[in-house]
Amino acid sequence: MDVISVIRAKRDREELSDGQIDWVVDAYTRGAVADEQMSALAMAILLNGMNRREIARWTAAMIASGDRMDFSSLPRPTADKHSTGGVGDKITLPLAPLVAACGAAVPQLSGRGLGHTGGTLDKLESIPGWRAGLSTAEMLSVLGSAGCVVCAAGDGLAPADRKLYALRDVTGTVESIPLIASSIMSKKIAEGTGSLVLDVKVGSGAFMKTLADARELASTMVGLGTDHGVRTVALLTGMDTPLGRTAGNALEVRESLDVLAGGGPADVVDLTLALAREMLAAAGLPDADPARALADGSAMDAWRRMIAAQGGDPDAPLPTARERHTVTAPATGVLTRLDAYAVGVAAWRLGAGRARKEDPVQAAAGVELHAKPGDRVTEGAPLLTLHTDTPDRIPSALDALTGAYDTAPADTPFTAPPVVLERVG
Ligand code: URA
Repeated sequence: MDVISVIRAKRDREELSDGQIDWVVDAYTRGAVADEQMSALAMAILLNGMNRREIARWTAAMIASGDRMDFSSLPRPTADKHSTGGVGDKITLPLAPLVAACGAAVPQLSGRGLGHTGGTLDKLESIPGWRAGLSTAEMLSVLGSAGCVVCAAGDGLAPADRKLYALRDVTGTVESIPLIASSIMSKKIAEGTGSLVLDVKVGSGAFMKTLADARELASTMVGLGTDHGVRTVALLTGMDTPLGRTAGNALEVRESLDVLAGGGPADVVDLTLALAREMLAAAGLPDADPARALADGSAMDAWRRMIAAQGGDPDAPLPTARERHTVTAPATGVLTRLDAYAVGVAAWRLGAGRARKEDPVQAAAGVELHAKPGDRVTEGAPLLTLHTDTPDRIPSALDALTGAYDTAPADTPFTAPPVVLERVG
């Protein structure tokens, strides 16, 4: 087998055989195929696609590149959620303890943010003392005591994907449905969860800009999960405007605490409950009542146990930014658009996100929204507050927000789209 014939085959729109896929994924992981050769193949896949058989085999080869975790010793059924990433998407924070409070075990291996979408681990690291890096024994112990754990994936889980994702990130080959589906599902299947709910984001702040692409990604991932014995469903959810009223690490933790205390923005609460119901049904607990677990404080109790078990102080004050800058509404009327991508880029430029994997993030940086599409606004009243520790970043954040919102006269009819657009599975 040689890599040039594999690259040529995909370049010429041929189907790759099982043997070619197994060989190239393994050889790349071992370093026998060079980065420049794998980037040529990734670009050929992005341009010419892969069929379902090729995607399934590619996913299986990435799973086989590393370890598989096993939670079958736990007394509770396991349920996990994966979001394809969006702006203000803090849902894992209230969701994991909520589903744990309803009787499932939630082993959530999460990532850090790259580009305009935030990462769950970066958000939780704004809590003083909280640790993302746990051994397998520590992970099982937190799952046992709190019912949920959110931590970084170890190096042994799908190492082929770890290497390939870093390469795709710098070669313009992230936006390929076969590569995204196999990347996400190889990690989730190797993680060993019994059931999985996928939150596939659609809109300006998401990878998938159209419903048609989101549907294809969702059905590809649901098929991969089901074929590997993981009960998998997907919700397609809107990402044209940020979720909730904050984008940024500590700002999003604060908003998640509001949800766990029984309040919080309606879209965050609605999506958290919709995903919780799907996870509980997939885990075989269809009669659990997640709305009650939010209202009666049991989800908050699970959160406090999880944070403390991972070294965090659930009562410590969260960091606040040294500098704030207010953006005011340009006119009186109704806000009709507030673009998710622009808010994500602004939060990133303020210091909430990173441009390279090794960059640090500012815990307190981000954007706070004082209105969402459909809300009344008054000329000169605060529309957004920018938070940062480094005020010289404010002008470039303001640039990102140019043209990011529209208002219309107050009597203009406006109907906000539903949070959940479709279900696949
Ligand atoms: N998240 C992943 O884990 N992989 C991708 O390819 C895209 C998003």
